[in-house]
Amino acid sequence: MNIIVNGGTRGIGREIALYLAQDRDNQIVVTGRDTEALGKLASESLYDNISSIEVDLSVIDSQAASFRDQVYNRFSLIDILINNAGLLTTREFMKFTNQEARLIMETNFFGPATVIRLLKPLMISGSHIVNIASMGGFQGSSKYRGLSYYSCSKAALACLTECLSEEFRQDGIIVNCLALGSVQTEMFAEAFPGFRAPVNAEEMGVFIGDFALRGRQFFNGKIIPVALNNP
Ligand SMILES: NC(=O)c1ccc[n+]([C@@H]2O[C@H](COP(=O)([O-])OP(=O)(O)OC[C@H]3O[C@@H](n4cnc5c(N)ncnc54)[C@H](OP(=O)(O)O)[C@@H]3O)[C@@H](O)[C@H]2O)c1
Repeated sequence: MNIIVNGGTRGIGREIALYLAQDRDNQIVVTGRDTEALGKLASESLYDNISSIEVDLSVIDSQAASFRDQVYNRFSLIDILINNAGLLTTREFMKFTNQEARLIMETNFFGPATVIRLLKPLMISGSHIVNIASMGGFQGSSKYRGLSYYSCSKAALACLTECLSEEFRQDGIIVNCLALGSVQTEMFAEAFPGFRAPVNAEEMGVFIGDFALRGRQFFNGKIIPVALNNP
């Protein structure tokens, strides 16, 4: 399978890539901004089946052509695209500048949306897009101070999932969204100091990897909460 994991340099994305790379038939491209981490991850794959592309999703317009060309050079089709990259900034709504707010929206919503538009021509019937959102952006979930823009960006990504599953239905492309609860990663530790998440990055990486492989048989256009709790 040809698989792209956006935001694979650390945390959950890194674990998704390492898990999927355990099957030597999978070819995985991970993206991110941290060049060193991208190189290190590629060197960790047992079957030499992880490669990387450096891209900053918050400025995807200026890098779109180069990103698209690099993907097209490696893959003639894409079986799985996992939009995992994300930025969380904790700040009370009244203290946000528009620039800070836009950075979150660019990274968490416009970036993944643009990646989908750039790569959709490589997808065929059965291809699976998995968008990684958050319980914070899940309608009716508990909300927390300081997470307004983050939660809204994830709600937008979740809604895009429903919209695209309809637009891509005629092509047989499956689009789902996992709304994650807390997972012990650097992002979580920075946002919720002192809390301990019930799930670690490796456990979630395995779950998401399995879902990306098998979930397309059972779900389309779904926003699925994946949460034991919701701090
Ligand atoms: N951890 C949780 O409790 C939790 C809960 C709900 C949802 N989530 C979601 O799950 C996903 C993974 O979270 P995580 O906890 O593993 O976070 P993380 O450790 O902070 O990892 C985030 C990943 O996103 C990439 N990224 C961030 N900004 C980027 C940009 N501008 N361009 C390209 N890549 C960028 C980072 O790579 P570079 O730094 O190399 O760019 C990194 O690989 C995120 O979408 C997050 O919102 C996490």
